[in-house]
Amino acid sequence: MSLPASVSLPVPVHPPARARTAAPTPAQLLAFVRRTAADTVLVGSLPLDPQGRTWARLDGPAGSEVWLIGRPPGTGAGWHDHGGSHGAFATAAGALTEQSLAARLPTQGWKTLELTEGVDRERKLTPGQGRCFGEHHVHQVLNESQSTHAISVHAYYPPLPLMRRYSRTGGALRLEQVERPEEWQ
Ligand SMILES: [Fe+2]
Repeated sequence: MSLPASVSLPVPVHPPARARTAAPTPAQLLAFVRRTAADTVLVGSLPLDPQGRTWARLDGPAGSEVWLIGRPPGTGAGWHDHGGSHGAFATAAGALTEQSLAARLPTQGWKTLELTEGVDRERKLTPGQGRCFGEHHVHQVLNESQSTHAISVHAYYPPLPLMRRYSRTGGALRLEQVERPEEWQ
């Protein structure tokens, strides 16, 4: 049935949902960080400091937050989550060890949590290898080499609203600090 010529259709106030930028999927973020990790000119432009981490913020796809991070030998940034953002990371140079928890933790309302046995996971990521992770992921990333710098690319969506930092003693995970974006910009 066709509409009579005199009827005016309502004009939508907002553009249709399909015209807005869609949130990037974990697979898209993983593809992006792996592509970026393979950009030898970009990766090689990051200044490296044997005394500490260095970083550069990059433009990510669909409004995601992306960092290129240089990690000196024998360093790690400690256990943390990503404040409810999902993301991906990939090794660009050197090798990384990721230790993570195969458990979904309650996000709030606790200070110390006793982890059940068998939740620890560990993986090695050499150049070109990466992984994506969900919004509840808790991990730490280490450069266990005693001689070689590691460089990695990390993407988060939405941009990190905060990061919770934890200490770990055996099976006990303890919330130590909540960091806000203004502390790492
Ligand atoms: Fe992380």
